[in-house]
Amino acid sequence: MSAAIDHLRPHVAPLKPKTGIVLGSGLGRFVEALEVVHRVSYADLPGFPVSRVSGHAGELVVARAGGAPVIVLSGRVHFYESGDANAMRAPIETLAALGIENLILTNSAGSVREDLAPGSVLRTADHIAFSGRSPLIGVEGDGRFVGMTNAYDPGLAARMEAAAEGLGLTLPSGVYMWFSGPNFETPAEIRMARILGADAVGMSTVPEVILARYFGLKVLAASVITNYGAGMTGAELSHDETKEMAPKGGETLGRILLAMLASGDL
Ligand code: HPA
Repeated sequence: MSAAIDHLRPHVAPLKPKTGIVLGSGLGRFVEALEVVHRVSYADLPGFPVSRVSGHAGELVVARAGGAPVIVLSGRVHFYESGDANAMRAPIETLAALGIENLILTNSAGSVREDLAPGSVLRTADHIAFSGRSPLIGVEGDGRFVGMTNAYDPGLAARMEAAAEGLGLTLPSGVYMWFSGPNFETPAEIRMARILGADAVGMSTVPEVILARYFGLKVLAASVITNYGAGMTGAELSHDETKEMAPKGGETLGRILLAMLASGDL
């Protein structure tokens, strides 16, 4: 990983970015809105994981977004690809080592709420790690006992809400429940998720939030809702549907993030 840091440092140092952004499926096009300074494939960064999921190109981009310097991780590796909750540790640790202070995580998710329709954007207020796995299992030292009471930073949340309001958009917030995947949930699991207090279900992000908190980063997260949860409409779910629907809400989320970054001090 230090080789990756050594490679990136000369490109990052002149910009001094404080914000990192992980783009989930459907947000790939956000890269088109960036003023790119440097881009490199994960495959060329020693220690970085390479995803084999369609719709998840693995590329790190040093750029300006809405005028703010950022490091964008376009594409993620999921727990379900290998059973490793630590799959995104190297990229997140690298961002922390390069001076990143804020991490914005995006994903696509299913809605478990009738009033949260596909195409909506949902800011993550909190999560349930339903898969029961932590990326910190096996880590030594007292630093592993990470507090999660304020896992989602209130200041970043307020800034995102202000940016949405400035665009005339309502931005609901809710609880994201992490299922391991890669299979979708059953209708009974979706009913359970609702009873347990979830608003959305998905297969990513939660281990990254835990890792980010471990490395001392502030976290903001948001989901693009691509579908109603299993059993809510009678239709079968598919990855094709996720890929087709994600860019719709993804465009809205991209606009909100750009407005937030353009408002300065990030
Ligand atoms: N379930 C889990 N993950 C998802 C879904 C879903 O319904 N939609 C998009 N990602």
